[in-house]
Amino acid sequence: MSIRLAIVGLGKIARDQHLGAIAATDGIELTAVASRHAGLDGVASFHDISELLASNVAVDAVSLCTPPQGRFEQAKAALDAGKHVMLEKPPGATISEVHALEASARKKGLTLFSTWHSREAAAVEPARKLLATRTIRSVRVEWKEDVRHWHPGQAWIWEPGGLGVFDPGINALSIVTRIMPESFHLVGSDLFFPENRAAPIAANLSFETAGGLPLSAEFDWRQTGPQTWDIRIETDEGPMVLTHGGSRLSVDGEERIVEEDREYRNLYAHFVRLVTEGRSDADFSPLVHVADAFMLGRRHTVETFED
Ligand SMILES: NC(=O)c1ccc[n+]([C@@H]2O[C@H](COP(=O)([O-])OP(=O)(O)OC[C@H]3O[C@@H](n4cnc5c(N)ncnc54)[C@H](OP(=O)(O)O)[C@@H]3O)[C@@H](O)[C@H]2O)c1
Repeated sequence: MSIRLAIVGLGKIARDQHLGAIAATDGIELTAVASRHAGLDGVASFHDISELLASNVAVDAVSLCTPPQGRFEQAKAALDAGKHVMLEKPPGATISEVHALEASARKKGLTLFSTWHSREAAAVEPARKLLATRTIRSVRVEWKEDVRHWHPGQAWIWEPGGLGVFDPGINALSIVTRIMPESFHLVGSDLFFPENRAAPIAANLSFETAGGLPLSAEFDWRQTGPQTWDIRIETDEGPMVLTHGGSRLSVDGEERIVEEDREYRNLYAHFVRLVTEGRSDADFSPLVHVADAFMLGRRHTVETFED
């Protein structure tokens, strides 16, 4: 039988990606939506998750597409009601809350899937496999985009827990944590806060791998014109460059992978497998690096930001 799914938070990403991916995935169907200002024709629609869970509409799982602040209460309510849970990235607003969710899902025998859509980009697995055969010298991440284009009017993203420029930056960290053959940890962090905002608009980070190699990341939301979502890896054997958010890979100067976008279809196919097999997938390492960046961050105040 298909998994009966409810989407919570019918906003930009739910409409841009989740609805189409669910429709294209076997073994799962959209049964309900819980969103304060939106509903869908032909699908049971509720104001919020409490109303949904109190109704007689049967769902097996919920996919949370709300902002990270407040996600914990929604996920906890779903798990307490015996539902499997899929979390948009970032999985939550704090490290301790996501560990609490993982423990709760384990105790109840439910699936918790903490998604990282960028890990599903076409070039990520090929890059991981190739990197495992090479000797790395350094890694440099540049993730620079125009916040006004990608996040117009999203007030939550500038509030505590909204992560500011780490909202896209965590996508880069989700790729790097996936493809690197060894762990790495933060050694320096400069954070640039607009004077009227509670979240950074840019960040420069330095990491070191367990073996002592340098890894740097520049995140910036002030880039207009062409956008940059690149990861450059120097290896003894030649350079490897992931571009376009992990969907393209060039190896030693030659373009290798250009494929269609399947990120969210892959996520839902994986969720169906996890539920069917009674497993969870909850790797919080990208969020841990972001928390470290705030913990070790030197704060710089920059000009006011208005939408
Ligand atoms: N936008 C992207 O391109 C993108 C890409 C990948 C992942 N994501 C992730 O997906 C999550 C949602 O992002 P989004 O871009 O879809 O955000 P969004 O457009 O603001 O949509 C989130 C929806 O959640 C609901 N919501 C519930 N409580 C809310 C609150 N306190 N404040 C604001 N909205 C609330 C809102 O619907 P109601 O008002 O109807 O309840 C809202 O439409 C974030 O974690 C983000 O990092 C976004």
